[in-house]
Amino acid sequence: MGAKLLEAPIDVYRFEPGRDAAPRYERYTLTVEPHTPVLTALLKIRAEMDPSLTLRYSCRSSICGSCAMQINSKSRLACQTPIGPEIERHGRLVVEPMRNQPVLRDLVVDQAPFWRQYDRIEPHLKLDPRHPMPEGKPNPMSPEEVARFYETPRCIACAACFSACPAVEADPDFPGPMALAKLYRFVVDPRDQAHQDRLVRIQTGGLWLCLRCHLCTEACPKDVRPSERIRDLKELAIAAQGGTEPGSRHAIGFKENIRERGLLQEMKLVRQTEGLAGLVGQAGQGLRMRRKKPEITKKPRAIEGLDQLQTLYRELDHPAEGEP
Ligand code: FES
Repeated sequence: MGAKLLEAPIDVYRFEPGRDAAPRYERYTLTVEPHTPVLTALLKIRAEMDPSLTLRYSCRSSICGSCAMQINSKSRLACQTPIGPEIERHGRLVVEPMRNQPVLRDLVVDQAPFWRQYDRIEPHLKLDPRHPMPEGKPNPMSPEEVARFYETPRCIACAACFSACPAVEADPDFPGPMALAKLYRFVVDPRDQAHQDRLVRIQTGGLWLCLRCHLCTEACPKDVRPSERIRDLKELAIAAQGGTEPGSRHAIGFKENIRERGLLQEMKLVRQTEGLAGLVGQAGQGLRMRRKKPEITKKPRAIEGLDQLQTLYRELDHPAEGEP
């Protein structure tokens, strides 16, 4: 006996720039089995109800990454997302094109912004011509070295993370989660001879614009966990160069504030991040904040249990042997 059938109302974004005055949503109602992938439903709509519906896909097996779109406001692969749970959770299915990339037509976007950022990180091994690899034989790596970037080769470049990222939306100069995860992969690859240079450049090339919201990790269909790779890059950048610019100084200052009192000392953190000149530049804002919250300029009283917190810091800074 087949699975119970489901009546699925599907609202699909329709828009052709240059022809349509504004986007609209077209409703199609299909009778499907709950496990039917969204992509299969869209192809059925196109085959049986509306041949003008435009979408991109290829493998139908979560491999090629072409069918990424917004499904009930989340960046997902259409071929990997079954309809039943979506209808159960939201009462309907809304399908829209990916965000942060201009719409070409209906569900198809121009991925140029995504690929531009990918090119920016120079995603290939850089070798020192004075020490070339033996011909036809790549330098061997130890299993431990490979394990450092075990997740990133799983990426299928679907751009779901790029679509989900609010930092990309806020600042087109932000490289985006996928480009940074790939950059991490080259920075920790012992065969790459430009990793120091890569770290120096990314410090001012958008690394610190990441908001740490983890929406990219939630969106990634291959569990690459880009937000964790961005965190790793930040740690490597600080270990290699210390606080060389506001982003890294803010991270170091934040950590030290918490270690010292268990609380943020806001004025102190601004000074640590921006330096004295920056503090002067933000004097107006500081005075407004002080009027609203006079205690901001005082050193806060240390929290209860600070000694336990500091013990945690010590253990994190000097893990016992055998611990990561
Ligand atoms: S069609 Fe290839 S990943 Fe969905």
